Amino acid sequence: MTLLSIRNVFKSYFLHGKRIDVLRAVSLDIGKGELVSLVGASGAGKSTFLHVLGTLDAPAAGEVFFDGRSVFDMNDAEIAEFRNRTMGFVFQSHYLLPEFTALENVAMPALIQRRERSGAYGYARELLERVGLGQRVDHRPGELSGGEAQRVALARALVLKPAVLLADEPTGNLDPATGEGIHQLLRDVNRELGITAVVVTHNETLARSMPRRLRLAGGQVSEA
Ligand SMILES: Nc1ncnc2c1ncn2[C@@H]1O[C@H](COP(=O)(O)OP(=O)(O)OP(=O)(O)O)[C@@H](O)[C@H]1O
Ligand SMILES: [Mg+2]
Repeated sequence: MTLLSIRNVFKSYFLHGKRIDVLRAVSLDIGKGELVSLVGASGAGKSTFLHVLGTLDAPAAGEVFFDGRSVFDMNDAEIAEFRNRTMGFVFQSHYLLPEFTALENVAMPALIQRRERSGAYGYARELLERVGLGQRVDHRPGELSGGEAQRVALARALVLKPAVLLADEPTGNLDPATGEGIHQLLRDVNRELGITAVVVTHNETLARSMPRRLRLAGGQVSEA
């Protein structure tokens, strides 16, 4: 069953009077429960593509369908609500809140949704243990390594059990063994929770370990 349909999506940036065409007629279907890697050169448009797929950024033309519904036909408030309910993001920069501990950062989306506190913290702690940070729950982002912060961001992205996880180089700052551990976790949550996931990575070995592989080049997405 198709969960996400991207149809003829174009996206350009305009800067200093110049137009940069990043996505040029991208069309693609992603099935419910698929685990997909996305590779491509730096500047190819991988982050841009994830932002459009995650409704953070509207395309210049084309449509994105979720479960058959055209998401950019909704108004801004509806899109934001849909995004919060459906999407988990791991950004290239971790965007953790510096004043809060790892545990508080992971629990935050659930607390904002007014989930019951002890349940939210309990699941946040469980996720931090899954990413190998059971001993770091009381650290603030400034007291974590870059790779640890990225793992906290992954735990935070999962705390609401999103239908879709969009991860932008979640293993970019990690040594190979820890990176493989994160990819194993992605495979586990994909299988156990049925989360549909698109994972951008520069690591070809890890990309190849995903059941479906995509490549972005020349503004187009193709099977890799
Ligand atoms: N806000 C912006 N304004 C103008 N140009 C932009 C903007 N954001 C991105 N770009 C340009 O669009 C292109 C695609 O950027 P994007 O961040 O999607 O690449 P990427 O594939 O994620 O690269 P990387 O692997 O380095 O993260 C790049 O050439 C970039 O310079
Ligand atoms: Mg990027």
